[in-house]
Amino acid sequence: MIKKFEISSDNLIVHFKDDNVEIFPNIWLRDHAKDEKNWDERTNQRKTFTAGLDLNCRIKNAQILDNGKFLSILWPDLDSPVKYSFEFLYKNKISNSQTRLRYKTWKNQDLSTNLFFDFDDTKRKDGYKNFLRVLHKYGFLVLKNCEKNFTSIKEIANKIGYVRNSIFGGLWSFESNQNKADSSYTQDELRPHTDGTYSNDAPGLQLLLCTEYSAKGGESILVDGFKIAEKIKKEDYEMFDLLSKVNVTGNYIGDGVFLKAERPIFKLNKRNEIIQVSFNNYDRAPFRFKNDLTKKFYEGIKKFDLIANNKEFQWRYILKPGELLIFNNWRILHGRGSFEGVRKMSGCYINKEDFDSSCVINEII
Ligand SMILES: [Fe+2]
Repeated sequence: MIKKFEISSDNLIVHFKDDNVEIFPNIWLRDHAKDEKNWDERTNQRKTFTAGLDLNCRIKNAQILDNGKFLSILWPDLDSPVKYSFEFLYKNKISNSQTRLRYKTWKNQDLSTNLFFDFDDTKRKDGYKNFLRVLHKYGFLVLKNCEKNFTSIKEIANKIGYVRNSIFGGLWSFESNQNKADSSYTQDELRPHTDGTYSNDAPGLQLLLCTEYSAKGGESILVDGFKIAEKIKKEDYEMFDLLSKVNVTGNYIGDGVFLKAERPIFKLNKRNEIIQVSFNNYDRAPFRFKNDLTKKFYEGIKKFDLIANNKEFQWRYILKPGELLIFNNWRILHGRGSFEGVRKMSGCYINKEDFDSSCVINEII
C-alpha cells in the first residue's frame, strides 16, 4: 500500500507502507497514464503520443485514494486526474529485486525427482500446470505413452504455443542421414550443445520423440548449462565475466542457406542473472576479438566443455519408442551417444517467449 508521497519538480517520491521508497520521474509517470485517453484497456496498448509529451511536465496535484490502494495524479495537459494502482507502482520499482526465476540447477546426482510423466496427464489442467512447473524448474522432462507420429508432438506444442518453423521445417523426422549439412544427422557421438547459435532468437524448447529404436547406444545426453555457469562463476569469476561478454559467432552453412548470429556463452539480464546459455562447438564460426584475451577465452571454452562432457554433470537415458523428451534449449545442452542400428526421431521447436507466456498464464513464474 502507499503511505505518503512528496512532489518535487521532476519526480514523485512514493513511500510504501513496507517502508520502501521509490522515486518516479514525472515523464515516466505521465507516459504510463492508464486513463481512457491514454490507454486502451481492451488491447492493453498505449494510446499516448509519447513524442508529444512535455519532458519537463510537472504534477499539478496528487492524492492517495482507498487507504493507499491508488495514487491519483492531475497532469496539466489532462482534464481529469489519472489513477495509478499500488501494484503497478510497486511492481515497477527500479530497485525491484524480486526474482521470477524459480529454477533448480542440477548435476546427475541431484536428479531424484520424477521427471517422467504420462502424456495424458498434460490433458488435465493440474497435470499441465505440473508439467510446466517441472519443465521450468529442471529445464527438461519426458512424456511417456505418446503416439509414435506427429500427433502428440503437435498437441503439446499447440498447448504451449505453436510449432516454430526453421531450416528443418516445422515438425521434422530424422534418422542417420548423410545428406543433411548438420551433425545431428550422423551416427557419431554428438557432444552436448545448444541448438540455434546461428539464430538471433535460438529455439526455446526442443521436443524429441523416439518413434523407432532397434539399436545399440544412442542415449540422449542432457547437461544443465546454468549449473556450468554457476560452477565457473564460483571458481573463476574473471572467466565467467569474460564468457558473459565475448560475443561468439555461430553459423549454419549448407542446405541453401547462410545463417549467422552472435551472443555470449552466458547471457545475463540487467540483474546479472543468467538467462541463456549458448554453446555449440560444431557451429562456432571464425571470429576475432582482443588478442590478449584470446587464450583466456579458449581456457573458458575448455573449462566449459570439459564440464559439459563430464558424466557427473550429465543425465543419460535411452529414449524408448513413444517417449518424448522436452527441454529448454536456452538452458539445457543436449547430445547423443554414438549408436549402431535404427533410431528414428521426430520433433519440433517452440519459441522461448511462447513457453514463458504459458508459464505466466498458468502462474508458474
Ligand atoms: Fe542439436
